[in-house]
Amino acid sequence: MSGNGVYLIRGGNVLSQGAAGSGDVLVRNGIVETIGQGLEVPEAVLIDASGMWVVPGLVDIHCHLREPGFEHKEDIASGSAAAAKGGFTTICCMANTDPVNDNAVVTEFIKKKGRDAGHARVRPIAALTKGLLGEELTEAGELAEAGAAALSDDGKSVRNANRMRLALSYAKRFGLTVISHPEDADLVNGGVMNEGRWSTALGLPGTTRAAEETVMARDIMLAAVENTGIHIAHVSTAGGADIVREAKRRGIRVTCETAPHYLYATDELVREYDSNTKVNPPLRTEEDRTALIEALRDGTIDCIATDHAPHHLDDKNVEYSIAASGISGFETALAICWTALVKPGFLSPEELFAKMTHAPSDILGLDAGRLEAGRAADIAVIDPCAEWTVDPAKFASRGKNTPFAGHALTGLVRYTICGGKLTYGG
Ligand code: DOR
Ligand code: ZN
Repeated sequence: MSGNGVYLIRGGNVLSQGAAGSGDVLVRNGIVETIGQGLEVPEAVLIDASGMWVVPGLVDIHCHLREPGFEHKEDIASGSAAAAKGGFTTICCMANTDPVNDNAVVTEFIKKKGRDAGHARVRPIAALTKGLLGEELTEAGELAEAGAAALSDDGKSVRNANRMRLALSYAKRFGLTVISHPEDADLVNGGVMNEGRWSTALGLPGTTRAAEETVMARDIMLAAVENTGIHIAHVSTAGGADIVREAKRRGIRVTCETAPHYLYATDELVREYDSNTKVNPPLRTEEDRTALIEALRDGTIDCIATDHAPHHLDDKNVEYSIAASGISGFETALAICWTALVKPGFLSPEELFAKMTHAPSDILGLDAGRLEAGRAADIAVIDPCAEWTVDPAKFASRGKNTPFAGHALTGLVRYTICGGKLTYGG
């Protein structure tokens, strides 16, 4: 479906300014021109949204697009096309590329590739330390100026606590949020899945939850002494949620995310030794999953981020212990959350959309995730009743690595519009 850039999204359940109501949305010149009732615009391309949610384009503040350097896994064009298929209009990609995004040239390169592809707004997150080596700090000022959305060494934590403290104080001066990947490499100690009953049963080395929780507590305390904010990536344990809850109670400026897979699946899924279940942090237990859902409900967990981590078949088609970690997540994120959270009644649709639109946007100050007249037309049209079966062969992402192949999910993105352009559907 292509037209003159004028779209009339008719008869959907429109989510605008926190409230949902039946209505029409008129898009023209890249902007939401009107949200109203019974709009008639003869020149517009009609999108029938009856029975569907019309919501702000989803915002993902944690993904991996692999370019530059690992284009066999994904590139910015394929990754952002997958994002559009998943309803996302703004995506922030981590710095663990080759070369690492630790300087303005790489940041500019990623932005340009994102613009050229035109599937989504691609906002690079730059490294906190040069080469992700945990030693020399990157030039936060230069990176902020180049358009970095945040700073993170995601993939690993900054091992030296004093270096992390300095990084927090430095980033603060340039108004950049630091995202902590909380993981103590020494405590991981060769673990490849959650340490517990299933790792014992399967004979796979386990990673203690303490590997995540100790560094999380450390980084939050460092942010507190520096009187600055910090964002915690992919909280996966009940204890981690408790740490963030207590820190917020104390008034520390901490925000955090979890990923769809931690809300939907547990370490039991590793049972068949499918290396597509290998992800970092690992899938945890049912108690953790339940605690994460409760933490989403009470506001401890601020948002949901995909941690879309595409890998090549060759990286996964090896024995579990040496397989790459990560799940290709853009194209299942909304449906997994709908199935795990909304369908059973844990979150209302409005609450879920908040966690995937303006909440993540506000954490990084992105000015996205809102559907209002006069703002950029970044919109997702979602069919809440559609039931479908995950088939990675149909992914737009080059990464077919999902442990959810064959799973029946509810909730499907039908159309995505980014900056007034139809980026998916039709
Ligand atoms: O599973 C993961 N994959 N966790 C990470 O932190 C990094 C990511 C990747 O880059 O593949
Ligand atoms: Zn991470």
